[in-house]
Amino acid sequence: MSMVTVSAPGKVILFGEHAVVYGRPSLVSAIDRRIYVSLETRDDNKIAISSNAEPRDLSFPVGELRTADGFPYIRKAVELAFERTGRESGLDIEISSEIPPASGLGSSASVSVATIMAVCGALGTEISKEELAKLGHRVEFEVQGAASPTDTAVTTFGGVLFVEPEKEEHQRIDVSLPLVVGYTGIERSTGALVENVRALKEKSPEIVDPIIENIGRITVEAKYRIENGEDIGELMNTNHGLLVELGVSSPELDSLVKAALDAGARGAKITGAGGGGCMIAYAPDSREAVANAIEKLGFRAFDSATTSEGVAVE
Ligand code: MEV
Repeated sequence: MSMVTVSAPGKVILFGEHAVVYGRPSLVSAIDRRIYVSLETRDDNKIAISSNAEPRDLSFPVGELRTADGFPYIRKAVELAFERTGRESGLDIEISSEIPPASGLGSSASVSVATIMAVCGALGTEISKEELAKLGHRVEFEVQGAASPTDTAVTTFGGVLFVEPEKEEHQRIDVSLPLVVGYTGIERSTGALVENVRALKEKSPEIVDPIIENIGRITVEAKYRIENGEDIGELMNTNHGLLVELGVSSPELDSLVKAALDAGARGAKITGAGGGGCMIAYAPDSREAVANAIEKLGFRAFDSATTSEGVAVE
């Protein structure tokens, strides 16, 4: 028996969500909330999965890895890790998460990357971070049907990254931004939201393509402003407006964005896929007032300090 625990951080997308699915860049930050995957091999050829974020445990024979019902990201991550190691084994997998599920904070990417690393570790196979990020991206792509490498890159490498989907290397930016996260508590599916945008784009490319193009331009400009210590509030607001046009906002997200701006935030926007989940506010001089305004509406608010630590063996 071999026991290993691996952790990986969640993330907030600062700029560029959805447009990054169509090859535009994104700016993303790892946050100091993590998912822990503890994994032990077992010799009865069964896989048992439990998580503090899910009401139901799952147990099935190794042969049913592809067909069992539940924990799709973890099952796909185990499948790709078995492929990578060339070995299969019974496993006990226990997930402990500080990241609310389906909230836009990257829990599926972090659990996928941490699970691949844990399986490889337990089966005695070394795997580089570059390879982990690629396999993690494959997990998201195969489970969701469409996914950019943003979330899996940042949970693997940590820090603030400028991700250009067609490039292997991600540029690391040395900055820590004072952000407040507002959480609507509404779970939603990234895959479904990405699909909605795709349908809209196919129906009216002449309207939707320029929106995507402009989100890409904003992201490039935001990187320049961050690197030069300039304000990014106004760019956040414009990016939010374009996400509203893509149809991925919700009444709750819009009311949180408005409340944050009214309380003194310089900028605020959806973060991640939208439809519920979370928003972020850039509030260098009014963090407490912004957090209070979000809580006054009955939602949760927390600081999202950037973490430089990506996926790691505990
Ligand atoms: C999800 O965190 C961000 C999206 O752009 C999807 C993706 O990049 O895979 C909506």
